[in-house]
Amino acid sequence: AIELSLRPRYLAEYIGQSKAKENLKIYIDAAKLRKEALDHVLLYGPPGLGKTTLSNIIANELGVNLRTTSGPAIERPGDLAALLTNLQEGDVLFIDEIHRLHRTVEEVLYPAMEDYALDIMIGKGPSARSVRLDLPPFTLIGATTRAGLLSAPLRDRFGVISRLEFYTVDELAYIVSRSAEIFDISIIGEASMEIAMRARGTPRIANRLLKRVRDFAQVRGDGIITHEIAIAALELQQVDPMGLDSIDHKMLLAMMTTFAGRPVGLDTIAASIGEESQTIEDVYEPYLMQIGFLQRTPRGRVATDQAYKHLGLPVPER
Ligand code: ADE
Repeated sequence: AIELSLRPRYLAEYIGQSKAKENLKIYIDAAKLRKEALDHVLLYGPPGLGKTTLSNIIANELGVNLRTTSGPAIERPGDLAALLTNLQEGDVLFIDEIHRLHRTVEEVLYPAMEDYALDIMIGKGPSARSVRLDLPPFTLIGATTRAGLLSAPLRDRFGVISRLEFYTVDELAYIVSRSAEIFDISIIGEASMEIAMRARGTPRIANRLLKRVRDFAQVRGDGIITHEIAIAALELQQVDPMGLDSIDHKMLLAMMTTFAGRPVGLDTIAASIGEESQTIEDVYEPYLMQIGFLQRTPRGRVATDQAYKHLGLPVPER
């Protein structure tokens, strides 16, 4: 319940993502004017940037019900059919991790998205035939980390495709202050900024750091989050001034030392530090690339001069 109350409920309360917000506002208002279901929306981007929050807001702004599920949770075509036939006109169906939908389930989705119809097979063998069942007009919101993970036919059926961006430090500082107010935490401005600078452009991380800094302030201080308390708590958590954690450090150090600064493949890096390739690609790399610490070249990943400087290692001759 606490997690939910941190989430803004209207677009006007939602900080950042101005491009996505501006576009969505127009499409939501237009759908309401025409009294139609909003076209299907694909939200993509690194984890923690607000895809679930935005889908809650979209349903809320449309004044319709929201049904939430995820790709891996829908095991059989019948599971999806059950969800679809229970929708009311205009409702939003949110499918998180939509790239993990089973192929057979995905095929049920095509006519549902395109024609608001469900094709059901009756019987087996030569006498089998399919009957078409009408569905109420609805909006599918799909969320995924990378749009490229979706099959082309699924991606093509979304009328609105929106990429979520990393947040600026100012936006995150504002989110931290807002969350502190909701939690009834006393925090000074410099401390909100400090957390924001170390939150990797990600509200979910900013809110998590805020909670850990609050713990520290209550146990080691008098509960008030001063700048000094924030820095000490963040250092203790091994979150460096750029927001890099021990896994980022391990990754960059492996590239610089074990692989001597030569271009190296994702799977090789992953194996050498004992992390999943997928986690590195979806969670760690996007931020390291965003801050200019990592580059993807045709021959593999390389750490940039900036990354060497940040870790205090000599920049290699290239
Ligand atoms: N809490 C988490 N993400 C947020 C956002 N984008 N705007 C406002 N509060 C948030």
